[in-house]
Amino acid sequence: MCGIVTAIARRNIVPVLLEGLRKLEYRGYDSAGLAVLKTEGTPQLQRLRAVGRVAELAAQADATGLSAEIGIAHTRWATHGVPSERNAHPHISAGLAVVHNGIIENFEELRSGLQAKGYKFTSETDTEAIAHLLHDKLKSIPDLFDAVRATLAELVGAYAIGVLSETDPNRAIVARKGSPLLLGIGEDGYYAASDTAALLQVTRKVVYLEDGDVAELRLDGYRVTLQDGTPVERAVNISSLSADAVELGKYRHYMQKEIFEQPQALGNTLEMIAGGGGISPQLFGADAVGIFGATRRVLILACGTSYHAGLVARYWIESVAKISCTVEIASEYRYRDSVPDPETLVVVISQSGETADTLAALKFAKSLGMNKTLAICNVPESAIVRETALRFVTRAGPEIGVASTKAFTTQLAALALLTLALAKVNGRLSDEDEAMHLAHLRHLPVAVAKVLELEPEIEGWAQRFASKHHALFLGRGMHYPIALEGALKLKEISYIHAEAYPAGELKHGPLALVDKEMPVIAVAPADSLLEKLKSNLQEVKARGGELYVFADAGSEIPQSEGVHILHMPEHYGLLSPILHVVSLQLLSYHAALVKGTDVDKPRNLAKSVTVE
Ligand code: G6P
Repeated sequence: MCGIVTAIARRNIVPVLLEGLRKLEYRGYDSAGLAVLKTEGTPQLQRLRAVGRVAELAAQADATGLSAEIGIAHTRWATHGVPSERNAHPHISAGLAVVHNGIIENFEELRSGLQAKGYKFTSETDTEAIAHLLHDKLKSIPDLFDAVRATLAELVGAYAIGVLSETDPNRAIVARKGSPLLLGIGEDGYYAASDTAALLQVTRKVVYLEDGDVAELRLDGYRVTLQDGTPVERAVNISSLSADAVELGKYRHYMQKEIFEQPQALGNTLEMIAGGGGISPQLFGADAVGIFGATRRVLILACGTSYHAGLVARYWIESVAKISCTVEIASEYRYRDSVPDPETLVVVISQSGETADTLAALKFAKSLGMNKTLAICNVPESAIVRETALRFVTRAGPEIGVASTKAFTTQLAALALLTLALAKVNGRLSDEDEAMHLAHLRHLPVAVAKVLELEPEIEGWAQRFASKHHALFLGRGMHYPIALEGALKLKEISYIHAEAYPAGELKHGPLALVDKEMPVIAVAPADSLLEKLKSNLQEVKARGGELYVFADAGSEIPQSEGVHILHMPEHYGLLSPILHVVSLQLLSYHAALVKGTDVDKPRNLAKSVTVE
């Protein structure tokens, strides 16, 4: 969701702001804007805003020949008010400009108070209230940094902000609480942004701000304090993220690149088990043995694709570790009465580590006394990772495409390791089984690479059904969540309406929809449910439905009129969902290509959902 870039440097920072915004595009946005301070003569704010892409904003900057040494910039994903130029950031209050990521929950109250004082609002956003509130504070607190702190003290909700002022043109102020923000220390100045990718163009030296931090950036240095003004030191890190990792290279889209990076991403995530030996529970943290040994139940909380990873893990945890496991959508769990159980291991799964509902669900579980917590996440310094007792950081590398692919398969790899660790600590894993499961995991990158070779056939299938308006995905057992994930991918990026059902439910409703206009995609591995699934497929065929079946090496399903079969290279037992989802990712990707949709930035969606 919204992204922020701030810069103060001995150079024209406009291209830096624009390039930073381009790197944040993947977070999802619908409008963009920037404000700079012209410091020759009387300092003066100049603001540009555009609905649509950053390219539009860049064109405006070019046309006006904009140049400055200090500025703030923003991509907006609409929450309060429609996507429009009026609602795009920065928001201005007489000489002050503010960009903001997050949601101010008490903005209506603030807005009425400020209106009563005579402030006129020109947008429907919560952010504009911050700008006017700061302006009001400056009347009694002349120092900009102190006035920002006083403003933050009145905000309820989540924010990362950037501030510029005509009255104080030599510094930019930034702050965060609940939304990500980091500082960049460059050769020629200081920077801030919502993520590292935006700053790699100028520096690798980054400082991760903590919740509640306020920072001042000047040409000659920076300082960080808590919101009450207490100075704090935050470590300077050298980011290991390579600029290549966020470049497209030879690929047409990030989603395609990320699908094809899966063998590497899985290899990196599983590096700790590559060298032989057994599974070590300490992969999840120093206290893992104690916590896993006292775990009687597992509760997995997540959203979107990460929720589907949790659904697959439930099958693994119950069948291998023999521990009861429930999986719940975070936004539901956080608002319902549940029965807390301190012997439950609460596992949160999130590629971004920022998802507001997942973070809130985790905090809610902790508030109920469930303190055995584990995060599985792709961003080591994220809010979710900081909140849990145990953690496993997947090493998928940056995922730019909104539709999650390599983050999902690496989450599954992490969850397979978790299953083995839980089983081992609880005495439910024989040496023989441990060796067998680990051998499978080690071979996974090669197995996924073979699935990727099926791309030409899958592309052919995608051509056939991209013209359809609906699609039905079927799976059974641990492949039902893979059917769910296949349907989610298809609707996210090709806008074809897709539903997934456990195949046994077919005749309890969805069969009524089946005709030749409704392609049915079946995930049909050679497992114990195959015969049952075959009967379900017959039910579709008998109604004239067109079937696309992802079988695997051992599934003998005859090809016939209206029944298309693709065989996966090998049957992969417990880890088979990881192979099958790759073919469904390719199917969605190619269907979207045929339809010509914006694959990496699907309409209305965001990569990091930092609001409820
Ligand atoms: C958004 C993204 C999805 C992701 C979901 C959960 O909807 O577009 O790709 O699965 O959020 O995000 P998380 O970062 O918590 O995995």
